[in-house]
Amino acid sequence: PVSTSSPVEQTLVLIKPDAVRRGLVGEIIGRFERKGLRLDATVLRTMDGELADQHYAEHVDKPFYPPLREFMTGGALVALVVSGDQAIDVVRALVGATDGRKAAAGTIRGDLALSNRENLVHASDSPDSAKREIELWFPAGV
Ligand code: PPS
Repeated sequence: PVSTSSPVEQTLVLIKPDAVRRGLVGEIIGRFERKGLRLDATVLRTMDGELADQHYAEHVDKPFYPPLREFMTGGALVALVVSGDQAIDVVRALVGATDGRKAAAGTIRGDLALSNRENLVHASDSPDSAKREIELWFPAGV
């Protein structure tokens, strides 16, 4: 379970279809492992439109959503639950800024991505979204 009081947190990571297609799954998981984070759960699956709409509930009305939905449902992805001390912020820092063209070197996107859509990784941005997204992707529990 996600706790806001404990420094040990769980966060939901999606290794997006572009990363799977490019063979970067091991590279990306390796960065989380080398940081000292733990993998609590992992699944390879293809997102359908209904799951995309739930996962991106806060973005469904935005102009960028239709191409984002098409991209995210267009191939297999890897969903992970990652845990560790302050894992939500730590993972976001490792992932880097949304737009790979602007993300800092040393981050996953800064080193490996050149787009704000095909940006390799999604990571929960708050304790509330981590809890919601973990329940969505791993409804049987972690
Ligand atoms: S916002 O509005 O600031 O909250 O949006 P942001 O956090 O930057 O992005 C939310 C997700 O939308 C994706 N995104 C896009 N997809 C397609 N086209 C465009 N132009 C675009 N801009 C942003 C972005 O990759 C984020 O995906 P996730 O999976 O949440 O990282």
